[in-house]
Amino acid sequence: MTSKTPPTLSARDRLIVALDVPDTATAERLAGSLTGHVGVFKIGLELAMSGGIDLARDLAADGHNVFLDLKLLDISNTVTKAVENAANQGFAFLTVHAYPAAMRAAVAGLGDSKLCLLGVTVLTSLNTADLAEAGYVDAPEALVLNRAQSAAATGMGGIVCSPNEVTAVRSKAGASLTIVTPGVRPAGSDSGDQKRVATPASAIKAGADYLVVGRPITQSRDPKTAAAEIVTEIATAL
Ligand code: C5P
Repeated sequence: MTSKTPPTLSARDRLIVALDVPDTATAERLAGSLTGHVGVFKIGLELAMSGGIDLARDLAADGHNVFLDLKLLDISNTVTKAVENAANQGFAFLTVHAYPAAMRAAVAGLGDSKLCLLGVTVLTSLNTADLAEAGYVDAPEALVLNRAQSAAATGMGGIVCSPNEVTAVRSKAGASLTIVTPGVRPAGSDSGDQKRVATPASAIKAGADYLVVGRPITQSRDPKTAAAEIVTEIATAL
């Protein structure tokens, strides 16, 4: 079995840009300059707190692919109702932390929506020491695999993991899952707070369907060129 992700996705379709900026005016400018150069606009917690959810609706209504990265985790009733409300607003992706109960609740809220629910396995900013500090005994890869298997079993559309775990997820859990990887850094760029990172080419060669890139594009002096270079690297690796 292969991934549910359409095999016809172009290199550009596979690039998700994280619009992690302080306000919607900045986000709209950035989205305007990147339209046609990336496949998906991702709106996460920073922008959600300053009008980003309305912007997400506007971008979706204008025909853009929109990824709402709200990383839901709450009691089952709340998660189901949140997904019911998000399900028919035209978003392409929505994230839920990959806890089995939360994922089951999210899937229950989907109805016949085409929204792709993604289970966030282990944040790419966490390493083994961070997991130990939080009380986990597993290293990231083992926990990612466990959560990816739960995501597949609960009927999620896909998962989010680091490029380093994609090969293992594909072979042991994720044949049918869409795999999205943040923690992507072009060679020579700053990792910031990301700890489990790889280049766009290695993420694609490992089998990732979509790559999330934020700061290497949004903090570049020339975001359009930064995105174009990543798309070229993806195309070469495909
Ligand atoms: O700037 P950078 O490329 O590190 O941005 C990565 C984006 O992906 C951020 O918006 C972050 O919230 C998101 N993300 C992540 N790790 C996950 C899930 C989402 O970095 N596991």
